[in-house]
Amino acid sequence: MGKMRSSLSAAIPMTITLKSPEEIEKMRVAGRLAAEVLDYIGPFVKPGVTTAELDRLCHNHMVKTQACYPAPLHYSVGKHPPYPKSICTSLNHQVCHGIPNDRPIKKGDILNLDITTLKEGWHGDTSRMFIVGQEASILAKRLCVISHECLWRAIEQVRPGKRLGDIGAAIQRHAEKNGFSVVRDYCGHGIGRNFHEEPQVAHFGKRGEGDELLPGMTFTIEPMINAGKAAVSELPDGWTVITKDRSLSAQWEHTVVVTETGVDVLTLSVGMPPKPNF
Ligand code: MF3
Ligand code: CO
Ligand code: CO
Repeated sequence: MGKMRSSLSAAIPMTITLKSPEEIEKMRVAGRLAAEVLDYIGPFVKPGVTTAELDRLCHNHMVKTQACYPAPLHYSVGKHPPYPKSICTSLNHQVCHGIPNDRPIKKGDILNLDITTLKEGWHGDTSRMFIVGQEASILAKRLCVISHECLWRAIEQVRPGKRLGDIGAAIQRHAEKNGFSVVRDYCGHGIGRNFHEEPQVAHFGKRGEGDELLPGMTFTIEPMINAGKAAVSELPDGWTVITKDRSLSAQWEHTVVVTETGVDVLTLSVGMPPKPNF
């Protein structure tokens, strides 16, 4: 989430908090749990299942198995109504914040599952794309691959002394080089005790611009990449974001921390798709 220049900015703390090593270890736990929810749910993402069923399974896994709280549930920010479900499920031309429902997903659909855990006061936020039935159009598959590469190209930029603009520029360059567009209305975000806090992490921008990265900063990078134009609109449910031109959209998300020498990804798990070889 993180709607640029919106009511959300008013709701989030206006300073960037630097986390201590002990706090980072707690975020690593929350982050690993979020990633492990995605490992757990992967085998259930098959033709015929509904996103409401995926939500129910993830909810129970978080609450009963992991003893953590699904941070989206009843989350309320800005002008949005309280979020009604425990995960976000964004299908095909849905960009982000899709609300789980009772429609079965179909072979060839592409689905983003976005998980945010709250464990002992700390948040972890990660999302992945799933290809339903392991088969999709060449365009859909390429969009999933390129958006994953965008995320990792951005992560590679992170180290002390770099700037937020370096992150956005890396994503924008890779997406546009491949004929895709970057959603500009929603961004990554600082994260910690709050689900969303400073800074806003734009997925486009110019190298060398924006705030400097400092050790102890924790934020998400979560590029939303469209096969068509960048423009989006929000559905009347107050949450679901779709592409205006109804083109496919894909998103991947990790929570990261700036270390003394580089970056640590906090949302790691055994089943996570590995960093691509560029
Ligand atoms: N997890 C989303 C993000 O990456 C935010 C979802 S807000 C919700 O920031 F309320 F829809 F869950
Ligand atoms: Co996020
Ligand atoms: Co998320």
